[in-house]
Amino acid sequence: MSGAADLKVREDRASFWATLGSCAMTRTAASVDGGSPGVASPFNGSIPPGRPGLVSPSPLRRSWELARWILDPTGFMQAQSRRGKDSFQVSVFGSAMGTGPVFLLSEPRTLQALMSRDTGSEFSSPGELNLLLSPMLGVRNTILLSGISHRHRRQLVMPRFHGEHLQNYGRLIERITREEMATWPQQGEISVREAMQRISMGVILEVVFGLGQRERHGELEALLTRRLGMTATPLTSAVLFFPWLQKDLGPLSPGRRINQLAQQTDDLLYAMIAERRAQPHGDRFDVLSMLLEARDEAGEPLSDVDVRDELMTLLVAGHETTATALTAALYWLHRTPHALERLRSELDGAGVGADPMKLPYLTAVGQETLRLHPVAMLSFARQVQTPVELGGQCYEPGDLLMACIYLLHLRPDLYPEPQHFRPERFLERQFSPYEYMPFGAGVRRCVGAALAQMELKLVLATVLGEMDFASANSRAVPQARRGVTLGHGAPVRLRRVARQRAVAPTQTL
Ligand code: HEM
Repeated sequence: MSGAADLKVREDRASFWATLGSCAMTRTAASVDGGSPGVASPFNGSIPPGRPGLVSPSPLRRSWELARWILDPTGFMQAQSRRGKDSFQVSVFGSAMGTGPVFLLSEPRTLQALMSRDTGSEFSSPGELNLLLSPMLGVRNTILLSGISHRHRRQLVMPRFHGEHLQNYGRLIERITREEMATWPQQGEISVREAMQRISMGVILEVVFGLGQRERHGELEALLTRRLGMTATPLTSAVLFFPWLQKDLGPLSPGRRINQLAQQTDDLLYAMIAERRAQPHGDRFDVLSMLLEARDEAGEPLSDVDVRDELMTLLVAGHETTATALTAALYWLHRTPHALERLRSELDGAGVGADPMKLPYLTAVGQETLRLHPVAMLSFARQVQTPVELGGQCYEPGDLLMACIYLLHLRPDLYPEPQHFRPERFLERQFSPYEYMPFGAGVRRCVGAALAQMELKLVLATVLGEMDFASANSRAVPQARRGVTLGHGAPVRLRRVARQRAVAPTQTL
């Protein structure tokens, strides 16, 4: 990429942050009288009856809440649910997102009303609200685009993660899983997250860039792993919430390291884009080739910046989340003997040639994992466009509403004994898309949901169909923030144990 273009990208991102800053200032003033910035309020700043009481906390309380949200997000959300609330305002998000007030919702009918009407005149889903992710992903991608550009980009990307393409990824997932398993010691422990991350990274790199270029893939994998590792704990995740921490404040500052890694990653991605532009292969079906051939909503080819931002988004969104889900599945299975036993006997009984994608208990294990460990704790925000009543509460234009997936999945009225890992619940009854939504819903529903679910099933079937393990964690591993997602508070470890049963290979797709 040229120096001028590089500068332009960084200026674009800087201007987004500047917008964020000015919005935040406007909102602070507006929130005092209950109004919302940027959108005309029919309530003229007064709080109408039935509207959830707006809080305007002191700076001290706001700082305390922000610290709690960063360091202990599940504790923060559970404290709200213990107060019996299905909808509550979170004052800390207003400042983080540059607008407000922000409410988290966790009642299925309310969520249905919100998420099934999020393209229309009542609710919108502006990509600008996801600015927190822009320093890493840029702004020209599915997550940060809005309106027609967003719709168009989704239509471009979605088919690569469905239908016939998905079938091809099945073979890829099995091959990469077996390659990883071949590196595991006969005896001793396996660090589950690292192993699962290598698998999910290998899969997404081949989906996005296609076969070949192993050296380049290795380089990219090393850079992304280092960059994401910088926000892998609750404390280091703070960098995401305080943009000034991402500035280069000297050799020892996290900002210096982040900027260096960002520069190296950009250099590599732009070099790969330039090479592919120079030598297009008409018969390639990977995402990069597709993006280079695509036209935007104005009929123009995508710029290098658009391509880079989309690649980065798919690489990051496409492997971090899936690696965590796989780690959680192996963790819960090895702490729940009856579930592990039932899954093993389903895999053994399926016999040669069985398609793992059709095994009901395996499917239920994947579903229960994402219920109990919803990697994305929240959906992206939807913005209220007209005064509206939802779940008996009134909201004003400008208010931001997010599905609190974490609390929805712990509702005892839907999921009795919600803290227990019990895949059977998904065999006993069907849940609506608004009672169970690990991938969100509506206009921003996860682009990679089908790939992630397939990967979850195929990796588990391949690994547990051939090897036996026992948990090597003497204590329970708590859930903990990992960047903007929900990860694990300590390494999940498995120990290989002698296999007692005959191997019953499942079908290679
Ligand atoms: C277990 C794995 C995953 C989970 C739990 C997950 C969860 C989510 C959630 C909750 C959303 C927001 C939906 C909303 O606001 O309604 C989302 C959006 C998104 N996800 Fe995933 N995801 C996963 C895997 C993936 C994969 C494998 C990819 C890419 C191949 C991906 C790409 C995206 C993209 C691009 C969006 C933005 C969609 C938009 O803004 O229109 N995700 N994901």
